[in-house]
Amino acid sequence: MYWVVTCFMKLCMLCMLLMITMDTTEAQKQLKVGFYKTTCPAAEQIVRDTVNKSVTANPGMAAGILRLYFHDCFVRGCDASLLLKTVPGSETESEQDAGANAGTLRGFEIIDQTKAQIEAACPNTVSCADILAFAARDSTTIVGGFSYAIPSGRRDGTISNIDDVELPSPDSDLNTLKNTFVAKGLSVGDMVALSGAHSIGRAGCNSVTSRLHFFNGDQTDPSLDPTYAAALKKKCPKSGKSGTTNLDPVSANRLDNQYYLNVKQHKVLFSSDQTLLDSKLTATLVTKYSSNLTAWRNDFAAAMIRLGSLDVLTGNNGEIRNKCGVRN
Ligand code: HEM
Ligand SMILES: *[C@@H]1O[C@H](CO)[C@@H](O)[C@H](O)[C@H]1NC(C)=O
Ligand SMILES: *[C@@H]1O[C@H](CO)[C@@H](O)[C@H](O)[C@H]1NC(C)=O
Repeated sequence: MYWVVTCFMKLCMLCMLLMITMDTTEAQKQLKVGFYKTTCPAAEQIVRDTVNKSVTANPGMAAGILRLYFHDCFVRGCDASLLLKTVPGSETESEQDAGANAGTLRGFEIIDQTKAQIEAACPNTVSCADILAFAARDSTTIVGGFSYAIPSGRRDGTISNIDDVELPSPDSDLNTLKNTFVAKGLSVGDMVALSGAHSIGRAGCNSVTSRLHFFNGDQTDPSLDPTYAAALKKKCPKSGKSGTTNLDPVSANRLDNQYYLNVKQHKVLFSSDQTLLDSKLTATLVTKYSSNLTAWRNDFAAAMIRLGSLDVLTGNNGEIRNKCGVRN
């Protein structure tokens, strides 16, 4: 009798576990690699070509596109809500106007151009959210030298509200960062792997002022390598908040594991980067990625796919936008 009861209980627990896992992988299951294979076979090629042209002409655009993808997926899911401009005269401002976004996002015009070409080839078929996911993958290929198959089938949202934007701040400590990623259904490992995106691109000097010039500008964050801090202060002097500086002082346009070496050497721009050394798990991953490019590439690709499945709209939900900047 006893074993029948325990057996039943174990079965129940297994069922519950299965239900939980099915729930979290639901979104990923609805998306699939090659979603447009029959409806718009040229879609992924068109994105690859436009991104290749733009990124070859200006490598900074790869950084811009990766950041658009992250900021879109973290707010209302990967539904291209970030691409919606504030409607003139409307009372609600769009996500683009939030502090974490305003004035620092780039790459919108590449997505718009790509969308126009895809609409010409297959009208009303390919979502802006998918175009952004493809573009982030293709940016990775061009400036990182590796690729991954990204599932598609996302649809575009119709809501973009400044009040929904809750993105991690560069001043965040490790617990805050971890909580932000875990609350989205990503892991701490995903967070460390995705942070490698900070091996490309630039930041406004005002994003580093708090570390370079605090206490009336007389103090510098002691966790910065002194030589690096001195170089940064030249780029971003106390009085010059309008300049920009590269995120990776070694190879600004190469998406690679240099970022993790920079973290170890205290040559990273934000406290949110440096704080990855503050727990055993994250520090171990930093060390692993710094010495194993393949391990980082694999984990980055897997994390980009998971990031791309956050709260997606599929099936008949949402819409296929005609232009990425405005709802239909
Ligand atoms: C872990 C939390 C994160 C924080 C606190 C953070 C914060 C920031 C900040 C403050 C900037 C500079 C913005 C500016 O001043 O112009 C930046 C740039 C950037 N971030 Fe992050 N970020 C985080 C995670 C990510 C992730 C997950 C990705 C992508 C997978 C990413 C990709 C980028 C890229 C590529 C840039 C450079 C953008 C450009 O050059 O236009 N970041 N980030
Ligand atoms: C980008 O274009 C160049 C030149 O046409 C080509 O050699 C390269 O293979 C392309 N890269 C990708 C990822 O398509
Ligand atoms: C690097 O990572 C890859 C992929 O995880 C693994 O197969 C390989 O053994 C690692 N190399 C070293 C030297 O640890």
